[in-house]
Amino acid sequence: MGNIIKKLAIGLVIGGILVGVAKALEFPFVFQMLFLGFAMLGAVTFMLLDAPPLRTMSGAKSVVALVAFYILLCTVCIAGASFLPQFDPEEEKGKIAKILKPQFEASEKGKTEELIARAKALDEQVKALEVKLMSLGAEQVAKGPSAGAPTPPPTPPTNVAAGDFMKLGEEQWQLMECYNCHKLRGEGGKKRGPELDNIGSLLTVEEIQQKITDPKSFMAEGFEKEWEKGRMPDKFKELMEPKDILALASWLGSFKNTSVNTPRPIKKK
Ligand code: HEC
Repeated sequence: MGNIIKKLAIGLVIGGILVGVAKALEFPFVFQMLFLGFAMLGAVTFMLLDAPPLRTMSGAKSVVALVAFYILLCTVCIAGASFLPQFDPEEEKGKIAKILKPQFEASEKGKTEELIARAKALDEQVKALEVKLMSLGAEQVAKGPSAGAPTPPPTPPTNVAAGDFMKLGEEQWQLMECYNCHKLRGEGGKKRGPELDNIGSLLTVEEIQQKITDPKSFMAEGFEKEWEKGRMPDKFKELMEPKDILALASWLGSFKNTSVNTPRPIKKK
């Protein structure tokens, strides 16, 4: 009897320690009880070692006893387990989905909102740029040779009359800042691209268009290095409308000043 109490006490102490540790590690209550249960089971096992030996059985009796013991064990296990909280995987999945749904929706919504905001910001930028370009165009026209005459209202490029086609070409020259690299009529060319006053004698309007849309298509003789490095920007195709490119090329094609040494364009593509 003394032995049984001693083993029970040891079982309780070990169980208590296990529960304490499980609590500290934030195990759920069910698990804490499970650990206590294991400790007690261990104690009972050790108590059973002291139990008086059973009578030796044989034959059919032993088989019946074995089966009965097996049934008893199963019943205890199943009945005991049924006292524990039961988990239905479908129900658990449903719970997880419920927890995650609002978060998922929030992030989806957030994404769309962010995209809309970004699109709006971009639209604003484009509008601001358009206004800037328009005013720039108007400024350049005002600064031009007709500066003395009354300034024409800034014509939106979309409804330029046929007679103003050449003017549109000149406007594009200013707008696209070709003058930064190309000298024309003795002006511009700070960044030392070829002087273009005789380009009309060397290239057709079509070929000039090609050079503007695809700068690699022709190489100015003597500008091998610049051509290799792609000095002439490859952005005009995106920046300009086909009509503007045609106007600019037509305007440039009218420059046939043979006294200026415009380098010979060499076809590359
Ligand atoms: C950042 C400098 C730069 C700008 C801006 C630029 N170009 Fe050029 N361009 C060059 C250079 C450098 C070459 C010579 C190398 C080559 O052929 O690619 C050249 C070559 C040319 C040629 C061929 C000249 C020849 O004699 O073969 C034409 C035509 C031309 N550019 C037109 C334009 C037009 C029109 C614009 C504006 C829409 C423009 N370029 C803007 C740098 C520039």
